[in-house]
Amino acid sequence: METMKSARKNDTGDVGSDLSEQIKAATKDNHVRAENTQLMLSYQKGQITLPQYKVLLCSLYEIYKALEEELDRNSSHPTVAPIYFPQELARLESLEQDLEHFFGSDWRKRVIVPAATHRYQQRLRQIGRENPELLVAHAYTRYLGDLSGGQVLGKITQKSLGLSSKEGLSFFQFPGVSSPNRFKQLYRSRMNSIELTEQQREAVLEEAVSAFELNIQVSEKEKRKVYGLDQGCQTSGPRAKTGPQSVKVTEKTLTADCKYVKLS
Ligand code: HEM
Repeated sequence: METMKSARKNDTGDVGSDLSEQIKAATKDNHVRAENTQLMLSYQKGQITLPQYKVLLCSLYEIYKALEEELDRNSSHPTVAPIYFPQELARLESLEQDLEHFFGSDWRKRVIVPAATHRYQQRLRQIGRENPELLVAHAYTRYLGDLSGGQVLGKITQKSLGLSSKEGLSFFQFPGVSSPNRFKQLYRSRMNSIELTEQQREAVLEEAVSAFELNIQVSEKEKRKVYGLDQGCQTSGPRAKTGPQSVKVTEKTLTADCKYVKLS
């Protein structure tokens, strides 16, 4: 069986007591799996398509809406305040711009939410209400990922989709971060300053593993959810093209895997 590959450096050193080191070590295997989903493999081969990217943007919008609303709501919580960087990191507005670019001014009516994305969003809402100390696991997984491999994904998206300008690519740009590497160092030191009981620390590490798994599920679903995007969501209809193959869109596939929400 082929071994899964990772672009991350091999960390062979001992894991210290810092949360940033522990979380990286705890999610190492999950990161390898996250890099090897169908969607991420398409990315790495430079084969990302516009329908795939559009579905991904819809999912990212839902995820960041929940994540950033919960971070905002808990911004003065002692376990959130040290890693609360809305000026530098917030992605929601940039995603709105990208969605408008690709879906048009009525994008809110056309956003689709695959079931895996809905589950991810629900988990974020739940911990925002009940266990805000776990939000650091999700903020780490998304924002440090966006500032790491995500920067390469932005370049691949531009090239694969033949985008001539930066239009539709705001998500990958962090105008408030002049050096991603330096910012990641700052972020890690802030994570390390959070005071957690041993039990809470364990729970954060477990939540980070779940956060990767939720992202993996979103990426795995994306591949199957590339149909009919240019017509918006369909409840039935003719065969929609998904590249070399076509998928028959039926009521059943939609109710099983795709949930539509009207975003206010
Ligand atoms: C094609 C897919 C991906 C590639 C090529 C990739 C690559 C990388 C690379 C090169 C780093 C920097 C490692 C370092 O500085 O030591 C990194 C870090 C990271 N990636 Fe990914 N990644 C991918 C997908 C993902 C996904 C899907 C997630 C989760 C949603 C993710 C989350 C992270 C996180 C949280 C870090 C920061 C690790 C740390 O420094 O603690 N990555 N990634």
